[in-house]
Amino acid sequence: MKRVYFDNGATSYPKAPGVGDAVKDYIENVGGNINRGVYRTAVSAENTVFETRELISEMFGYGDYPENVVFTKNITESLNTVIKGLLKSGDRVIVSSMEHNAVMRPLNSMKNYGVDFIRIKCNENGELDIAEFEKELSNNNVKAVIMTAASNVCGTIMPIEEIGKLCRKYKAIFVLDAAQAAGVINLDMEKMNIDILCFTGHKSLLGPQGTGGFLIRKEIVEKVDSFIEGGTGSLSDTEIQPSYMPDKYESGTMNIPGIFGLNASLKYILDTGIDNIHKREMELTERFIKKVKEIDGIRIIGKKDTENRTSVVSIDFENMDNGIVSHTLDKEYGIATRSGMHCAPSAHKTLDTFPRGTVRFSFGYFNTEEEIDYAVEAIKNIIK
Ligand SMILES: Cc1ncc(COP(=O)(O)O)c(C=O)c1O
Repeated sequence: MKRVYFDNGATSYPKAPGVGDAVKDYIENVGGNINRGVYRTAVSAENTVFETRELISEMFGYGDYPENVVFTKNITESLNTVIKGLLKSGDRVIVSSMEHNAVMRPLNSMKNYGVDFIRIKCNENGELDIAEFEKELSNNNVKAVIMTAASNVCGTIMPIEEIGKLCRKYKAIFVLDAAQAAGVINLDMEKMNIDILCFTGHKSLLGPQGTGGFLIRKEIVEKVDSFIEGGTGSLSDTEIQPSYMPDKYESGTMNIPGIFGLNASLKYILDTGIDNIHKREMELTERFIKKVKEIDGIRIIGKKDTENRTSVVSIDFENMDNGIVSHTLDKEYGIATRSGMHCAPSAHKTLDTFPRGTVRFSFGYFNTEEEIDYAVEAIKNIIK
């Protein structure tokens, strides 16, 4: 059976060319830990990890501070580190109603420690009302704004630059969840006033699972406590966690094979160009939306155009069970999609798809027009 992968919002497939070889190269030819030994292969691994920090800081507009790139195993770990390390009793934060549980679950558990949050309701297209946002930000002594860059349910991109400007104006720390945006939208920490940019390596950054991290502005470092502490290979004569970057937040042996793979995917993205990747994904998204719009019995959720969006498209099969539709797409047509809540119940409530959920199609740079057309025909057959 044909195999069509439309679940790039969950994790990208295929990965960028060169990723598999880079992981294999580390495992088979390099070996060695970093920050520990001074033998040649350890230094070689260390150089690649440092180069990966440089690629990340360059990609996200904080190029002078590669040491402020922290590696974690995914963005969930990054967000937990930031949320639990930054917020203290009495602090209040603002989120949108489109957040993923990687933000909402740690925030809800921080309620037990006296942290409160205000949730700004987005409209039926997942768009933030910036006037409402400013009103809440200006009136509530807000410590931080934690927001997704793009919805993982309907693809809507947030007005990141405007949010950053307002965070500066009202002296709130701006934490961006760039899970669905990194590698497909240009994100610039300086230009957009982002204080902490959290990323995951295995989605639109086209790298391996088990890679992620965050980039933290140097003025903010002292405000965010470390979460995981232990051996860093540095200051080993003391039992106290180092306070300098990136060792403050990087204890224990990291996913070096994964970072080798991420190094290759970042180079691929930078060579290809983020704008070119986004443009290609929008061509596929536009083709899909245009064809699907004409089919009776289904409803595209959120925006129906390609302005200000990513390639995540959610569909509600109105008279059917969306879970069964997703299963049928796989079983009978070999098309991988994801149904349900997408770990974002509040987004579904905003978009009026709670608790039914949707079938989410998320296209990637390597998908083709032929695959889109094949999926449209499959949808027509299923609906018949
Ligand atoms: C917006 C958003 N934030 C956070 C996450 C969590 O990503 P990860 O599983 O890589 O930690 C996801 C994954 O679906 C997401 O879409």
